Amino acid sequence: MAAKKLCEAFSKTLIDEVQKWGCMKQTGVSLRYMMEFGSRPTPKNLLISAQFLHKELPIRIARRVVELENLPYGLSLKPAVLKVRDWYVDSFRDVRSFPEIKSSDDEKEFTQMIKAVKVRHNNVVPTMALGVKQLKKGLGLNNVGSDLHEIHQFLDRFYMSRIGIRMLIGQHVELHNPNPPPDCVGYIHTKMSPVNVAQSASEDARAICLREYGSAPNIKIYGDPSFTFPYVPTHLHLMVFELVKNSLRAVQERFVDSDKVPPPVRIIVADGIEDVTIKVSDEGGGIPRSGLPSIFTYLYTTAKEPLDEHPDLGTTESVTMAGYGYGLPISRLYARYFGGDLQVISMEGYVVKRDIVSITINEEVMS
Ligand SMILES: Nc1ncnc2c1ncn2[C@@H]1O[C@H](COP(=O)(O)OP(=O)(O)OP(=O)(O)O)[C@@H](O)[C@H]1O
Ligand SMILES: [Mg+2]
Repeated sequence: MAAKKLCEAFSKTLIDEVQKWGCMKQTGVSLRYMMEFGSRPTPKNLLISAQFLHKELPIRIARRVVELENLPYGLSLKPAVLKVRDWYVDSFRDVRSFPEIKSSDDEKEFTQMIKAVKVRHNNVVPTMALGVKQLKKGLGLNNVGSDLHEIHQFLDRFYMSRIGIRMLIGQHVELHNPNPPPDCVGYIHTKMSPVNVAQSASEDARAICLREYGSAPNIKIYGDPSFTFPYVPTHLHLMVFELVKNSLRAVQERFVDSDKVPPPVRIIVADGIEDVTIKVSDEGGGIPRSGLPSIFTYLYTTAKEPLDEHPDLGTTESVTMAGYGYGLPISRLYARYFGGDLQVISMEGYVVKRDIVSITINEEVMS
């Protein structure tokens, strides 16, 4: 189907409803609340949770549609962006047209429906990336830098909201799991060991490095594996995976023609009173000062862009070593989602680069 304007693709009644819901205020939910509530997944609680989502999801989704319709530089009209917008409108319609949830059967059906909504949005990130790339091409820009500040701010808000929506849906769906893994409440692991998560994320990143380059530097992890705190392991896994991939690539490329054994990538997990800090450092040469302001902008990359080679990437699930320029900005959003942060310190002369993820252990943070 060719990409169409909103008024051509959907009925006026639906568009009016999107506008109305897009003005409503969304409600935050804290990690602590999710954990406490989810620890008792009784049919009554599941019903309450579904009723909350029935009201909350359309607000969050509609707000994104309104934003997607009003992007600067004509980004709203790029075919890939129209496709994303249609996914959001379809999901808004699915949730809004679902009747009032009164019984456990209604709740189960609703859960199946929102599960399908989550799947519909699986490829939002690469598809939006394609849209921004289409814009970049149209504007004759080589790299989307600080000149497209508004676009970056929008993307930060947009992806942050996506993380929130997916967390809410995923958490509700997961509460139906009859055999949850020990100490898990939905997506939340109440005793997550950051060292263990770092270990598994490193192995995954190393496997990709091996596949791409035929070899991979070693990774050393320092920290106490028995230290735990409540967090969402998939989020931490994603952040460490992205940081380690960057480090492996930097070291690999720096030592590609060298006889020396490449220095290991080091990961240090420090458990403070308020923050858990994870430091990933490498000796891959750092980032030149000129590149530093751009590393957190979407699509900034010094790698060959896979989007050039696979323009249909929105429909594939391939994972590559680098190339989208999304790893750092998206990881920072995940860190910020529960009140943490991600910083990059580069010491170019000293060939060391550090990515520091600090994750707050204040469970009251709202999302
Ligand atoms: N550890 C590092 N050492 C040297 N340069 C780095 C390091 N980490 C990031 N960079 C630079 O920052 C850029 C942006 O990183 P980012 O992870 O956002 O995107 P990417 O790695 O290019 O692509 P992808 O979205 O696939 O991760 C990289 O292309 C690279 O130039
Ligand atoms: Mg990367």
